[in-house]
Amino acid sequence: MAKYLVEKSNPLRGEIAASGSKNAVLPIMAASILATDVCKIMDIPKLRDVEVMCQLLESIGSKVTIEAEKEMISVLTEEIKEEEAPYELVKQMRASILIMGPLLARKKKAKIALPGGCAIGARPIDLHLKGFHALGAEIELGHGYVEATADKLVGANIYLDFPSVGATENIMMAAVLAEGTTVLENVAEEPEIVDLANFLNGMGAKIKGAGTDTIKIEGVSELHGVTHAVIPDRIETGTYMVAAAMTRGDVLIKNAIADHVKPVIAKLRECGVEISEEEGNIRVKADQNPIIATDIKTLPYPGFPTDMQSQFMTLLTSVEGTSIIIETVFENRYMHIGELNRMGADIKIEGRSAVVVGEKLLEGAQVTATDLRAGAALVLAGLVADGVTEISEIYHIERGYSDFIAKLTKLGAKIKRVEE
Ligand code: UD1
Repeated sequence: MAKYLVEKSNPLRGEIAASGSKNAVLPIMAASILATDVCKIMDIPKLRDVEVMCQLLESIGSKVTIEAEKEMISVLTEEIKEEEAPYELVKQMRASILIMGPLLARKKKAKIALPGGCAIGARPIDLHLKGFHALGAEIELGHGYVEATADKLVGANIYLDFPSVGATENIMMAAVLAEGTTVLENVAEEPEIVDLANFLNGMGAKIKGAGTDTIKIEGVSELHGVTHAVIPDRIETGTYMVAAAMTRGDVLIKNAIADHVKPVIAKLRECGVEISEEEGNIRVKADQNPIIATDIKTLPYPGFPTDMQSQFMTLLTSVEGTSIIIETVFENRYMHIGELNRMGADIKIEGRSAVVVGEKLLEGAQVTATDLRAGAALVLAGLVADGVTEISEIYHIERGYSDFIAKLTKLGAKIKRVEE
């Protein structure tokens, strides 16, 4: 099993570029099976989740060509040979569920093992299924799998009880080839939804309103291939911003869309970090002012992202004062707290809130990455902790950070990947 060894590092300095967005590329790859000709997807990040999605597409009959040096993937799905996503793949990556909407749209049938991925709560898929049902699909829930079948899909008015990112994407992908108009209300407004809508519209879909709480889709009879570059990863960007703040460094992040990380910028500024936004770049300077506590509540976009909660919490262990964090999106996203406390942090959980006492000097320890962002938080902790932090189960981290070691090392971090 591979591990990361992280040593206390100097303030991070220099520049790196954000890669393409994990959460944008996965639904876009799934959506590419809606066309019978080639889709070319560019600015692909080097991630384990992308590899799993490639295998998933191949398992249903797509021909996937990876041109790693060009960061490009081509997907050709002339025919779908299998409407079932195999358990071995689905259990590795929760986003496999995103194949369901496109399969249902193209083949009127989709069967999928119930998803795995980060263990950050119950993570049901009831809203996805409710949407498919409203479009005319019959849903059958078996032991460990779910199957949706339809004679045809017909546009419908669908209100989501919660603005779920995955449900919005899945229903949108199912509705593009439905007969008539679909109106989706109380949907997720994340930039990744907008990127998916742009991709689908490039294929010939008629989607309006992505990025607002209501999306209107006029069904079309077929979609064609397209070439599309995915947006930069806002969570990766945010993680490097917090890493710069954590080490009191000075880092320029290129290929970053400041608008997509507004809440992270606002909170870092509240803490006393200087941030300047230039076109396509964000500079984070934390080597001048004292860094102070702030409170955070995670919310659907444009609120503070749950995917940045653990990294920000790590920063707050080192600042002046006490902070309160409230996690409202996932009910079990505090698994990093036990590990941070083992490194010397003082964080208490009260229901959905966490109280973080600042100015703690962390010490290196053997810790475990329990999920993707929790793992990233432990790497950040390791950068400021005395001694060596040994992080196991790093496959979680490699699901979501492209060239993590290389980028951190470029900024001066002391981090190594070792195989045991
Ligand atoms: C996506 C992101 C993930 C991010 C999350 C929230 C991808 C591949 N992953 O995950 O990184 O943390 O958005 O920003 O894009 N829920 C239901 N029923 C459903 C669906 C969701 O109750 O049918 C609940 C979930 O349990 C959770 C909340 O809604 O409490 C948000 O989940 P959702 O927005 O669906 O997250 P994902 O799409 O899984």
